[in-house]
Amino acid sequence: MRKYILLNILLWTILFPVTARGNNGQERTINILYTGNLNGELEPCGCSPKTDFGGVARLSGYIAENRKALSPYLLIDAGNFAGDDTPQGRLKAETLLQAFSAMKYDLTAFQKNEMKFADDFLSSLIERYKIPVVSNTHHYKLSISKTKYTLNMHISADPGDHEINQLNILLTDLPLSVSKEMQGWDVIINSSGEILEEPFSLNNTIIVTGYPKGKKLGILTLHIDNNGRITGFKHRWQPLGTDIKEDKKVRQILNDYDSRVAGLLKETERPLKETSYLGVAKCAECHQPFIDIWKKTGHAKAFLSLEKAGKSSDPECLKCHTVGFGEEGGFYSIATTPGLANVQCEVCHGTGRDHLMNFYKPLEHVTEAVCLRCHTKDKSPDFSYKDYLEKVIH
Ligand code: HEC
Ligand code: HEC
Ligand code: HEC
Ligand code: HEC
Repeated sequence: MRKYILLNILLWTILFPVTARGNNGQERTINILYTGNLNGELEPCGCSPKTDFGGVARLSGYIAENRKALSPYLLIDAGNFAGDDTPQGRLKAETLLQAFSAMKYDLTAFQKNEMKFADDFLSSLIERYKIPVVSNTHHYKLSISKTKYTLNMHISADPGDHEINQLNILLTDLPLSVSKEMQGWDVIINSSGEILEEPFSLNNTIIVTGYPKGKKLGILTLHIDNNGRITGFKHRWQPLGTDIKEDKKVRQILNDYDSRVAGLLKETERPLKETSYLGVAKCAECHQPFIDIWKKTGHAKAFLSLEKAGKSSDPECLKCHTVGFGEEGGFYSIATTPGLANVQCEVCHGTGRDHLMNFYKPLEHVTEAVCLRCHTKDKSPDFSYKDYLEKVIH
């Protein structure tokens, strides 16, 4: 190999004595586009413009739109793309692999999160979506050696497994502090969930981290000499905001996911029960003026927001956009419990059953803690109790 390279240099120097360096495939650049620690995030919820970043449809759209400028590139996920091993979590893991496959990811890694899932489930996904996987457990390939753009690469999930004369890339979710001690790697893509805003570079190793929940795409540009050595690098984050056009094919994959999630609810369709929540229609019998005010607030349109987003049957959204989803006697589905859609009176005041027995028995006192159950940093970054209360007080 080395002999061949030397010969090649000689040849090019003779043929093109001036332009030989930095040209003709000898010194080149390659982009590593990477994600890591998506943690089951298929797309952002859209609860706030400030946190509306990420999502695989935008990711795919960005790459498609900029393919020329990004090429040649490798597209790699460093693992922890899956979230929890629940029925919905399994759908998410599958949907992400399906999306990776549609985007032609070169590789993904199975790390701690993926290991929560059953082996045969994971194997069936690899088979179905034909996506190369490395993992630091005995069930899967530890590493993959491949040649792309005439560059020999060794991509591995095992910190001790680097090779000679290859571009060595490690995908790991060990803590950053541990990654920084590792030697023999050209590039380490870390998916521990920690964030390095700038790459960490020491002893010829460049360490980058996947941006949690895929809010930004990492782009590491490597300059590589004719011996396959890295001579320099650049790094930038590409935020995936609403300005980025979604890829239609991946959008369709996400829409299919939404239908399958809706199916999860149907599969376990519950019989109607005497509910513990009364619903706003009941309160309206005696508190009409309050209802009129409430109707003008965002809370009264919370379910509509889900419908517009195609997520009106997604348990992960329902818990904050309805009354008591997941509780006995709370919202279940729009078909079975239409009266409990939206963020209603009882979300803040507590269930009204006892109140009907005795109007003077005080209901739950409404405090800031009640709001914070839903107005979290991620979903409502602008939340301030004083300002928000003003908008809903009646
Ligand atoms: C932890 C609670 C919580 C969860 C879970 C949640 N939301 Fe929200 N959502 C909120 C809150 C709170 C707001 C209002 C944010 C604000 O204005 O400060 C909001 C606002 C929104 C809005 C903006 C409405 C508008 O017109 O301004 C949309 C759309 C939305 N959510 C969709 C979703 C979807 C889709 C999901 C599930 C993927 C979801 N939400 C899950 C709490 C939640
Ligand atoms: C049959 C009539 C009736 C219905 C139905 C009713 N209330 Fe009341 N409510 C009253 C009366 C009467 C009072 C006490 C007098 C007052 O302050 O107006 C009261 C007081 C309250 C108060 C203020 C006192 C406190 O305990 O903090 C809240 C809050 C309240 N109701 C919420 C609700 C909610 C929520 C519902 C629906 C689940 C509801 N009510 C349904 C009649 C009703
Ligand atoms: C059960 C979850 C939940 C609770 C509890 C909750 N909210 Fe909300 N809130 C929401 C959701 C969801 C939205 C977004 C509605 C939509 O889709 O437009 C919202 C929207 C709002 C908005 C409208 C934002 C805007 O600018 O349009 C205000 C204001 C607000 N909430 C204040 C409060 C306050 C104050 C409290 C506590 C006293 C509170 N909320 C408790 C879920 C909740
Ligand atoms: C976002 C939370 C929230 C929602 C939703 C909400 N309230 Fe309230 N409500 C409050 C707060 C906060 C107060 C102030 C008193 C307190 O601290 O309990 C209040 C006070 C009241 C009072 C007592 C008013 C007084 O003058 O003492 C009544 C009655 C009441 N709400 C009824 C309703 C009814 C009916 C609905 C549904 C249409 C509703 N509320 C929805 C938060 C909410």
